[in-house]
Amino acid sequence: MIIKLEQLTGHEKKAKIGKLNVAEGDQVQVGQALLQMESKKGNSPLLSKFKCTIDKVLVEEGHEIEIGQSLFEVTAEESVQAKPKLDYFGGLLSGKKEEVKTELLIIGAGPGGYVAALYAAKKGIQTVLVEKDSMGGTCLNVGCIPTKALIKSSEVFHQLMNADDFGLAVKEVELDMAKVIDKKDEIKGTLVSGIEYLLSKNKIRVIKGTASFLNDNQVLVKNGKDEYTIESKHALIATGSKISDIHLPGIDHDFVMNSTSALEYKENISSVTIIGGGVIGMEFAFLYSNFGIQVNVLEFCDRLLTMVDKDVSEEIANIAVERGIGVYTGAKVTRIEKDQTGKAIVIFEQDGTEKFISSEKVLVAIGRTPNIEGLDIEKTGIELNDNGKGIAVDEHLRTSVDHIYAIGDVTNRIQLAHVASHEGIAAVDHILGIDAHVDYGMVPNVIFTSPEIAAIGLNEDQAKLVGKNIQVSKFPFQANGKALTMREARGFIKLVKDLDSGKMIGASIIGPEASALISTLTLMINSNISESEIAHTIFAHPTTGEVIHEAVLGLSIGALHCDE
Ligand code: NAI
Repeated sequence: MIIKLEQLTGHEKKAKIGKLNVAEGDQVQVGQALLQMESKKGNSPLLSKFKCTIDKVLVEEGHEIEIGQSLFEVTAEESVQAKPKLDYFGGLLSGKKEEVKTELLIIGAGPGGYVAALYAAKKGIQTVLVEKDSMGGTCLNVGCIPTKALIKSSEVFHQLMNADDFGLAVKEVELDMAKVIDKKDEIKGTLVSGIEYLLSKNKIRVIKGTASFLNDNQVLVKNGKDEYTIESKHALIATGSKISDIHLPGIDHDFVMNSTSALEYKENISSVTIIGGGVIGMEFAFLYSNFGIQVNVLEFCDRLLTMVDKDVSEEIANIAVERGIGVYTGAKVTRIEKDQTGKAIVIFEQDGTEKFISSEKVLVAIGRTPNIEGLDIEKTGIELNDNGKGIAVDEHLRTSVDHIYAIGDVTNRIQLAHVASHEGIAAVDHILGIDAHVDYGMVPNVIFTSPEIAAIGLNEDQAKLVGKNIQVSKFPFQANGKALTMREARGFIKLVKDLDSGKMIGASIIGPEASALISTLTLMINSNISESEIAHTIFAHPTTGEVIHEAVLGLSIGALHCDE
């Protein structure tokens, strides 16, 4: 039997063989990587769909291969050969059943699950990873990465439209939304195949399919007609979250998008009403506004981004309004209707009055909910949180069943990719007998609005709420040379110091490169570096990082470049 190359990532027709994983005479298991392919889209493994022996390797490392090319001569197991119907990788069309035993089973290959798998494999734990969709989960496929790719395109567009600020004349700038989406997909494809490559390189068995618990010790994975019964010493649930259901009349109209469908919409849009002024709502608000689309945001609470410092929230609302974004807070959306021309009418209550906004599209961004659908949790001893939302875990990420862990959004604690990854590492460490836990007080948070927002630790109000005796230091980007050269001098940094302990306990930034600056602040606060050590540290000039130095000086002698 011949194994041929039948498929490549995206629209690629050719690839280079980066590594041959098998040699003549090798026994190959189902799902084992036969070779690694390198293409413009990144690296990806070619997996065997059945048990066989390699008789002859027909290609060499470094060779270019193309779709349809013969790669291996193999002898499949008799039971396999008896069934002649083969799919594109030479696998069986009729279903197969396999029993798998492993040390660690991870369900879900998002930033929680795949990072935990890589970490576990590097620590010598035999690991099986189950995923029903693409590697990378929400973050990589329909979350963090795709939105950031679109946001970058929108920022470039905005800068070109405002080229005059840089002393440049740009004759014509055209938005091609279809191309913007395609470019985003290329980035996503590169990262997905990169993860596939890393998993295979670390000898992690990936089983594609939907997992459901049979009991505390066994999981059934179904993929079409194929079934795998997996028995593992430890299990880790990392199934993430899904877009929350909302019972809003009119939500099924064809012009209503959610944060997933909006990422695929390839037509140019003239106007959009965003329901929800949270993280997703505000990132999309600036994304669309940068593209010149008329945006209105309707937020139920009395301010945007309720999780950030009040001053930061006020600053982003002011910037949004200056940009032409309509901001309506204290606005409860009650229904969506369609007018005679097919346009959307969003009806909301504000100050006791019913009001409406019309637009071409509506984006609903009102939260995400833990994804436990189909897991058959009830067949196990795993308990949910008291409010029934998400899986309950202890400080070691352990569920009520000792050998089963849960990490990331499915626990309904903090819905952030980097928290999920960190929790995955902590859970694996605990499996290895290390007393690992996550410090949730030190989680950096970044919101990719224009300008960006980032925070770590307690903000001013949170510190006051827990009775801290605090000092606050604020420094504006207007007094930072680099920010002025970037034509992005809006915003500020704000540090919060606990006067009783003399330690910095929090920082918030709204301004250019906030997403990068927060790493320095996280390290600084997390490592308890003293004010004097920071004051005597040389910060490169001209950089946005100098605002950190200035704000720290503001806690003692006062900032040098601002005398407010
Ligand atoms: P969210 O909870 O941050 O915001 C939803 C907003 O919708 C809330 O402010 C809520 O008051 C409002 N809302 C709810 N019902 C409403 C109604 N009927 N009318 C008007 N307003 C209404 O949820 P979001 O933005 O969907 O994000 C989900 C999760 O994803 C968050 O936990 C967020 O942290 C995470 N995420 C993180 C990102 C990052 O780290 N950069 C990016 C995107 C999402």
